[in-house]
Amino acid sequence: MAKKEMKRVLVTGAVGQIGSELTMALRERHGAENVLATGRKTRPSQALLDSGPFEFIDVTRKESIEAVVDKYAIDTIYHMAAILSAVGEDKPWLCWDVNINGLKNVLDIGVERGLTRVFVPSSIAVFGPGTPLADTPNDTVLRPTTMYGVTKVAGELLADYYVKRFGLDCRGVRYPGIISHETLPGGGTTDYAVAIYYGAVEKGSYECFVSEDTVLPMMYMPDAIKATLDLMDAPFADLAHHNDFNIAAMSFSAGELAASIRAVMPEFTCTYKPDFRQAIADSWPDSIDDTAAREEWGWQPAYDLAAMTEDMLAALRDKQSAGLLK
Ligand code: SER
Repeated sequence: MAKKEMKRVLVTGAVGQIGSELTMALRERHGAENVLATGRKTRPSQALLDSGPFEFIDVTRKESIEAVVDKYAIDTIYHMAAILSAVGEDKPWLCWDVNINGLKNVLDIGVERGLTRVFVPSSIAVFGPGTPLADTPNDTVLRPTTMYGVTKVAGELLADYYVKRFGLDCRGVRYPGIISHETLPGGGTTDYAVAIYYGAVEKGSYECFVSEDTVLPMMYMPDAIKATLDLMDAPFADLAHHNDFNIAAMSFSAGELAASIRAVMPEFTCTYKPDFRQAIADSWPDSIDDTAAREEWGWQPAYDLAAMTEDMLAALRDKQSAGLLK
């Protein structure tokens, strides 16, 4: 058997929705002691703390990242720390600082410390007015109206610049709304697609903050983790794109999501009361063309809406039985 390449990995934003599960998957792959989880101030779960090293850092302070990169001899960074779309509208300058200056710090450290690879996540929030919203192409108009989207477009361009100018190997995907049952998302527009399952299990009902006919691209967490790991495994020479891959799994309206829950729990009821996040949702695509990801690194999702709903409800019922939910 070929000897596994030794990696020393840093995950920023490891207490967040994607970072927390990504850290566990990376620990499984590379050995727990080789994957450093970091967060800014939220207390990590006991599972994260018990499974490997953890440090508090602030990505807006370059020296705080450098300290852990040096202490743990890091060679690969998954830079998951970010402020999401809804919080970003409330605190636009915090969003700019974390998403842009934090990213620049990570990329500079990548060049200065000669890191082998950096993962730079982006989002469907890069799209906006002028973008075709059905089967949105990979290479298209990027004129978002949220601060989060502005930072994600700038982040893609900045990371691509580091590839071209400094030869830094960084890659990234445009995540759609991510649905999961381990860690709640923190302040995004697509959060309703997670909260609806918690509402169903805890109360049998949910009040949704976008309208019933709002369609967005979504993905179940196991597919999001798979996309992340698969892109990071791809040979650099195979990639024509780097930090801006569209990835798709499923698209559905809020009403279809509620119907998929009703198929398992007929008594479930959903009401709709759109708030400021409706306008953000309306500016994002309904569906995504991910041909580039499929062709360049073999992207292929596994979960559709029905399979995800079955899995989500089962997982949340287990949590409820264990006393972890209302
Ligand atoms: N889920 C994110 C948000 O809603 C999109 O990347 O902000």
